[in-house]
Amino acid sequence: MASVPLRLRDHAYDVLIGPGARASLAEVVGRLGAGRAVVVSARPAEWVPDTGVETLLLPARDGERDKTLATVEALCRAFAGFGLTRSDVVVSCGGGTTTDVVGLAAALYHRGVPVVHLPTSLLAQVDAGVGGKTAVNLPDGKNLVGAYWQPSAVLCDTDYLSTLPPREMRNGYGEIARCHFIGAPDLRGLPVADQIAASVRLKARVVEADERDSGLRHVLNYGHTLGHALEKATGFALRHGEAVAIGTVFAGRLAGALGRIDEARTAEHLDVVRSYGLPTALPAETGPEALIGLMRHDKKAFGSLAFVLDGPRGAELVRDVPQDAVARVLGGMPRAPLAELVDAGTTDVTRS
Ligand code: GLY
Repeated sequence: MASVPLRLRDHAYDVLIGPGARASLAEVVGRLGAGRAVVVSARPAEWVPDTGVETLLLPARDGERDKTLATVEALCRAFAGFGLTRSDVVVSCGGGTTTDVVGLAAALYHRGVPVVHLPTSLLAQVDAGVGGKTAVNLPDGKNLVGAYWQPSAVLCDTDYLSTLPPREMRNGYGEIARCHFIGAPDLRGLPVADQIAASVRLKARVVEADERDSGLRHVLNYGHTLGHALEKATGFALRHGEAVAIGTVFAGRLAGALGRIDEARTAEHLDVVRSYGLPTALPAETGPEALIGLMRHDKKAFGSLAFVLDGPRGAELVRDVPQDAVARVLGGMPRAPLAELVDAGTTDVTRS
């Protein structure tokens, strides 16, 4: 079992990674001194570990449709009905949307109660469940209402991954692939638990240096500017990790076009993304103009075209990238029908 420490100035916790990690929940709850727990789970009851204390189990549904303020209110009312106090604990068990919404409810209830995350998807284990970002969506956009609320522990039980369809695994590999370009070692071919541990180690280092996203933490959004645009342009037919994968290939090409990296490093982007069985082409149905319009509205773009790009100092946020360079690189990307890009995700070439 790997244990990755995350040490912030006023808060510290460990991320436990491996088969059976969820069995540590009762010990974690005991260490927190919690008298009662509310477990919010998007997984069947048999996957929910014992907390060791009096527990209210609330069902949840993974997915964007329940990532709303209404869900946060319903959760907080259930916490109140159970008599949960600040000396108790909230536990989330589910994918990234569940850890996001439960994390926000924990941040707001009684102005903050301890939360433990049990991320069950690969994407949530390598990214969403770690680092303390919580949020829900508004009709106006994704993740517009949120808070930084660090968990008291994260238990990444790799047994949960056996329940995931191949496409959901691939979704998580999109976030692992981008780690290659922001400071992780080459993870290709390693057992999945080692890939998760390395991705979490990298994220922990970044979050320790910049918890509130004022600089370095932007690097975690490698491949995300185009990725977010592709998600929107395809009506979320492309999953987050798939879109980030295509965005990573694009980021390599753009960095190459701007003279920031050489040809070999540009090619490495394609090789790494491809090695995870992830899509590398743009959906044929979406033109560069539409994507550029969407990228200008990305949260991190601040009105200009901004990308996290590889370069001589490693990955960094580059603002005011000229639109004609972006258009040229997008125009030079291979294209494939969306149905083809999505279909490729039904076979799992990468699980080890
Ligand atoms: N998912 C990016 C971050 O946690 O900052």
